[in-house]
Amino acid sequence: RIAYVNGRYVSHALASVHIEDRGYQFADGVYEVCEVRDGHLVDEVGHLARLRRSLKELSIREPMPEASLKLVLRETIRRNRVRDGIVYVQVTRGVSRRDHYFPPASVKPALVVTARSMDRAKTEAGAVAGVKVITLPENRWARVDIKTVGLLPNVLAKQQAKDAGAKEAWFVDPAGFVTEGGSTNAWIVTKDGIIRTRPAESGILRGITRTTALRMARDLQMRFEEEPFTVEEAKAAREAFFTAATAIVTPIVAIDGQTIGDGKPGPVALELRRRFHEFAE
Ligand code: PDD
Repeated sequence: RIAYVNGRYVSHALASVHIEDRGYQFADGVYEVCEVRDGHLVDEVGHLARLRRSLKELSIREPMPEASLKLVLRETIRRNRVRDGIVYVQVTRGVSRRDHYFPPASVKPALVVTARSMDRAKTEAGAVAGVKVITLPENRWARVDIKTVGLLPNVLAKQQAKDAGAKEAWFVDPAGFVTEGGSTNAWIVTKDGIIRTRPAESGILRGITRTTALRMARDLQMRFEEEPFTVEEAKAAREAFFTAATAIVTPIVAIDGQTIGDGKPGPVALELRRRFHEFAE
């Protein structure tokens, strides 16, 4: 495997960053994960736009012009011979002696790109079986709209889910509303058959897969609404599912051990999953 590290393509096993990288010391950086399908980047425009936004929100400079970054993504995919999988992009504020204040303007942001293959048949089988989620109190900072590499609460939540035999953990805000998963956006289909997901104005990352799924629901004339839902509503829902570049649309069959619907992946989730790539860009 090959990784792109600050201007060079290097063997993945030997790829490394400096110990004074601010991503390492302060989680002072942002990232994107983009699906690769049949050799193409899925929703690349959306992911690059969000990367730009994350950088801007943290006043980190863009590491290179977007056209160049697109070439690096393609070259990293090519060198790793990825047909189906993911590409990972990470930008940190760069390398500088540890000091909380931003480094001098001369310090360049650090850029890393990796790509890896994923077994499509395997992920498909997992999704079609349905997955379990648990719920946990929201304990992240207020700027979860920025895709930062500061993911410790997400890591702890997802490990707790795994230990409980679940795939994902849903965070629940103090008012009892589900925000999102550790690495996915949360959805239900209400008892009335309406697709519901929390508005992106607060409490969540505006998922690129989420945006495409909403467009898809609109184009297919499915009933949907951007409204928050509680854990109780989720448990009583007809269906539940989550979305992410790494998960597309993944049906949920249990929340906190409680069966959702008839305990099988729901038709809405399966339809959104089956047709997702017709609507992605
Ligand atoms: N996670 N919410 C959170 C907290 C996320 O980390 C992610 C993505 C999403 C879904 O966003 P998108 O549809 O743009 O992938 C929502 C990536 C995949 C990850 O951390 O691996």
